[in-house]
Amino acid sequence: MNKQLRKAVIAGNWKMNKTPAEAKTLVEEMIPLTKDADCGVVVCVPYVDLCTVLDAVKGTNIEVGAENCHWEKSGAYTGEISADMLTSMGVKYVIIGHSERRTYFGDTDVTVQKRVRAALDAGLTVILCVGEYLEQREQGVTNELVAMQTKIALGGVSCEELSRVIIAYEPVWAIGTGKTATAEQANEVCAEIRRVLSSLYGSEAANGVTIQYGGSMNAKNAEELLDQPDVDGGLIGGASLKAEDFSIIVKAASR
Ligand code: PGA
Repeated sequence: MNKQLRKAVIAGNWKMNKTPAEAKTLVEEMIPLTKDADCGVVVCVPYVDLCTVLDAVKGTNIEVGAENCHWEKSGAYTGEISADMLTSMGVKYVIIGHSERRTYFGDTDVTVQKRVRAALDAGLTVILCVGEYLEQREQGVTNELVAMQTKIALGGVSCEELSRVIIAYEPVWAIGTGKTATAEQANEVCAEIRRVLSSLYGSEAANGVTIQYGGSMNAKNAEELLDQPDVDGGLIGGASLKAEDFSIIVKAASR
């Protein structure tokens, strides 16, 4: 029942894939396949593709996100992009704290918190990624770890701002590996995240937050994962690069 309070959102995370010309082709394939979606449909694309994709999706139900943003508004940060730059283009979403940013580019819980702050201040909706490494799961600290990541990232975020936060639970061992978490594992951690949100913001606000699962979600396993009571959508990497597969996942979330 609570699930009906929330909007299902399927977001593609294209990562470092697709030139602007390729991005145009892919998103144009997606438009007719996802036009009847009864869920939010978002594509998060490389910075250099934003213009092309924003233009291509005009007048459709597909919304556009970036894959990261810097926490400062402007200044001497060579190579970085601010949240205000994104909103000024018409971008609505931004992924923050993806495990690849944490693992390869030095993002920490503290910088994730700063990016979340900047993104919310600029008017963006944040897709905040949390999740454990395999060793952490094996040590039995998944729930504590994900709770800590969530709490730190949301430090200073008001209850009103929480309506512009989506949380993506992405076990790192499941990302790009073909090893999906079982539906029960995914649901257990999504439910834990909701408990944390409830302790911070109260149950009504927590029940309204979209919590996605991400990590090798694909056209075959999406339905089972999305059927779970606390899994409200998906953050899709590999399968979001194939219009047909992505649209099957969107359909599974629209049921
Ligand atoms: P994957 O990536 O679907 O390719 O596992 C998910 C993600 O990293 O967001």
